[in-house]
Amino acid sequence: MSVLTIIEADARDALQRIEAASVDLILADPPYPEIDRPYGRLSVAEWWDLMLAVCAESKRVLRPHGSAVFILQPNAEKIGQMRGWLFEFQAWACREWNIVQDVYWWNYTTLPSAFAMPQHGLLRTSVKHCVWLGAPDCYRNQDAVLWTESDRAKAERLANRANRRVGSPSGQGVNKHTVSNAALRRGGVTPFNLIPTSNGAGNGESGSYGHGAGTPKALCEWWIKYLCPVGGTVLDMFAGLGTVGYVAQQLERNAILIERDARAVKLSRERCGVPSGGRSSAR
Ligand SMILES: C[S@@+](CC[C@H](N)C(=O)[O-])C[C@H]1O[C@@H](n2cnc3c(N)ncnc32)[C@H](O)[C@@H]1O
Repeated sequence: MSVLTIIEADARDALQRIEAASVDLILADPPYPEIDRPYGRLSVAEWWDLMLAVCAESKRVLRPHGSAVFILQPNAEKIGQMRGWLFEFQAWACREWNIVQDVYWWNYTTLPSAFAMPQHGLLRTSVKHCVWLGAPDCYRNQDAVLWTESDRAKAERLANRANRRVGSPSGQGVNKHTVSNAALRRGGVTPFNLIPTSNGAGNGESGSYGHGAGTPKALCEWWIKYLCPVGGTVLDMFAGLGTVGYVAQQLERNAILIERDARAVKLSRERCGVPSGGRSSAR
């Protein structure tokens, strides 16, 4: 039985009321600076104020082997000139906390934008950084997120990749039968640090549920299975329409959602089956 709690409040206030060392995984898709959203626009300085406060409380509420994953996408000052906030945040996190590993979400369904127009010659923006913070020995379950083959085409691609590694230029030969036998025994192979997930609205995979900046359900599912044990607790302090909580419930994890926008809270309560006015629901 899992419990879902939805709190309508500013993240900075509500986090202070969460018990210390009570959360296994923080999974959040925070607002980005200098982007116009229905929920406002933050300057870079305001964004830092918010994130420094959130990170301090995040460390406090996480269990010793817990992790925080913040999904962030760099943006640009103008064409050909990136803003530095995300890179500086990662450098800050290396100094003040610990980045366990660099991981990226690749949204392979992103359409070309103005940046990628032929006259600018830049590339399609399709990768978000999943900034994974925690202790070097934090809890993680690789078996839960193996890179599996669900259809024949994928299986063939994997076989081709394994074959190419045989007698590779590095000289590290790999016996393809050893690779495929290991994959069969484990039910998949070691996942990449690039998580390919569609954000295609309307195909059932998107977590948007009418939110302009929704997080895909498949991406939430991947992180929750990987970093939160069954029966553990996931926290999202920028919950939007509650995708993290919705998925956590399905995976038998408890969830605490914090969101300051009343309309988003109402919709996430409907979506997750939490009675309006009620703060938590047991399933
Ligand atoms: C990118 S969206 C999150 C989307 C969410 N993961 C989902 O799938 O629906 C960021 C959310 O953070 C909320 N937010 C922004 N600043 C906040 C704050 N200080 N406290 C709480 N929520 C905040 C916004 O209202 C918005 O819904």
